[in-house]
Amino acid sequence: MTGQTPAIERKGPNMLSKKMLDALNEQINAEMYSSYLYLSMATHFEDDNLKGFANWMHKQAKEEWAHAMRFYEYINDRMGRVTLKGIDTPPNSWASPVALFEEVCKHEAHVTALINNLVNMALDEKDHATNAMLQWFVTEQVEEEASAGEVLDTLKKIKDSPNGLFMLDHKLGQRE
Ligand code: FEO
Repeated sequence: MTGQTPAIERKGPNMLSKKMLDALNEQINAEMYSSYLYLSMATHFEDDNLKGFANWMHKQAKEEWAHAMRFYEYINDRMGRVTLKGIDTPPNSWASPVALFEEVCKHEAHVTALINNLVNMALDEKDHATNAMLQWFVTEQVEEEASAGEVLDTLKKIKDSPNGLFMLDHKLGQRE
């Protein structure tokens, strides 16, 4: 037969398992939610005229988007189908900067647990490629938890000092 292009068979010997594919797609959603959550936190700080804090949150939101895209690209590289789902509505106001950063720390600990679960799944399935890809996230989560924890720690030391808050705002405004 002529004139017919054979359909591209998106299958290969090294395909992701259905279980792993579903879990990686869920992680795209979790990273997108993280991005949305931090963007919402940026709006909170903009409302409070704390532009440095808002800058920090904007940079964080962009990083989370990039995390989601790492999973997106990886799924494609492994001939899987990316499936996007709805992103939950994030909260949009917090009682204080301390309360907000407590939520950041809690959220990052949750993401670390999600990444660890994915690593466990990859190891169970002897999926070495996925395990190798995830190792970047294992290291990244250590940094994410440390940087959020550092801000929280400083905020607790500052307590109610407007001067301290102003200085921290200036510092966070310098985040590239
Ligand atoms: Fe992508 Fe902050 O976890």
